[in-house]
Amino acid sequence: MADGSDSEEPWPDNEEKFYNDAKEYWSSINPTVDGMLGGFEKISPTDINGSKAFLRPFLKVGKGTTNNHRALDCGSGIGRITKRLLLPMFDTVDMVEQCQKFLDSARGFIGEQSSRVDQLICSGLQDFTPEEGRYDVIWSQWVLGHLTDEHLVNFFKRCKKGLAPNGIMIVKDNVSGSSETQFDDIDSSFTRSKDSYVRAMMNAGMTILKEEKQKGFPKGLYSVWMFALK
Ligand SMILES: C[S@@+](CC[C@H](N)C(=O)[O-])C[C@H]1O[C@@H](n2cnc3c(N)ncnc32)[C@H](O)[C@@H]1O
Repeated sequence: MADGSDSEEPWPDNEEKFYNDAKEYWSSINPTVDGMLGGFEKISPTDINGSKAFLRPFLKVGKGTTNNHRALDCGSGIGRITKRLLLPMFDTVDMVEQCQKFLDSARGFIGEQSSRVDQLICSGLQDFTPEEGRYDVIWSQWVLGHLTDEHLVNFFKRCKKGLAPNGIMIVKDNVSGSSETQFDDIDSSFTRSKDSYVRAMMNAGMTILKEEKQKGFPKGLYSVWMFALK
């Protein structure tokens, strides 16, 4: 989570290693909110409040056009976002996550409301295709840095097809200060520039409905941006 803008990390040698290293890293992390947030559990309430305020105007309850039947939480981890953001706003939530250990902890972590979590899908997003027209909201936060550029564009394309009528995709992620993409060889992830995300969205044929910087995070962390796409 910390801003590593001064570091010069070696670029990943090959795709298989890039994905395997991330898998290995996450399998060593505790299935807790603090684990999900790299030791920054304290930013979770600010994050969730910012997300709620960003999402609500799109939903019918906020006088928008998007239904609140079913959401998908991508790179869900143990379900921090499912529990605190999506289940309070949607009837049903599906989760997709590459680490089985996190999914195994999800229902216990979420508690009583986990009866409204339908599918727990263990898959890398690079290999995952949402069912066509299934989701009112596809939420993707702090995970897309784990995809290569090519896989990112293709994932956006598949998500576009996975949206129900008036459905939207939300991307919330770290954005590097410079125009360069940075690579972190500890968790094997990229931090892209805002332009680089916008390019990938455009290349996938997405339309950006709204974009906003998350406010109130401590200094020293990357800037975090939210995008609403269709
Ligand atoms: C920083 S955590 C964020 C978890 C959750 N989105 C949140 O904000 O609480 C990143 C999550 O992405 C998952 N992940 C990493 N690479 C992935 C991939 N290729 N496909 C799906 N999930 C992945 C990790 O296992 C981990 O659960």
